[in-house]
Amino acid sequence: MRRRRLLGAVLLLPLEGLAQTCGAITPRQTEGPFFKTDTPRRSSLVEGKPARVFVLEGRVLSPQCQPVANALLDFWHADERGDYDNRGFRYRGHQYTDAQGRYRLETIVPAEYPGRTRHIHVKAQAPGRRVLTTQLYFPDDPANARDFLFKPELAMKMPRRGAGAFDFVIDA
Ligand SMILES: [Fe+2]
Repeated sequence: MRRRRLLGAVLLLPLEGLAQTCGAITPRQTEGPFFKTDTPRRSSLVEGKPARVFVLEGRVLSPQCQPVANALLDFWHADERGDYDNRGFRYRGHQYTDAQGRYRLETIVPAEYPGRTRHIHVKAQAPGRRVLTTQLYFPDDPANARDFLFKPELAMKMPRRGAGAFDFVIDA
């Protein structure tokens, strides 16, 4: 009896640990008025020499915590003045996760624009599944408190200066 209970505990622990790290699907948010299709495929949105480069890294995971390879990530955000490029593709680009479900985006920290805190728009899609549209936020931005769209679950981690981290959990 005792032995069986012990075995059960050993088997349960790692599963519970995993369930806590992913499992919950990333919350959806509005795409807003500035989404554009047919973005260039590129992992760096940096053109020219910005004052500061910002690198966002992470993984795309299934609700079962499996990495999602070849997931589409389409990013867009405001420029250093808070404007979107609606004629061209500045600060717009899509990429696909690697075999381990990883992605890496090189860009800048977008400026705020009236009524919004700093954010990065993204559409994430596992091959053949439905698109998840959301927005990512900077965790320590004072403007978060004034933005009704801000959600703590969508705040990036900031492992070091100039770097953000976020793992998406999507239908896969
Ligand atoms: Fe926006």
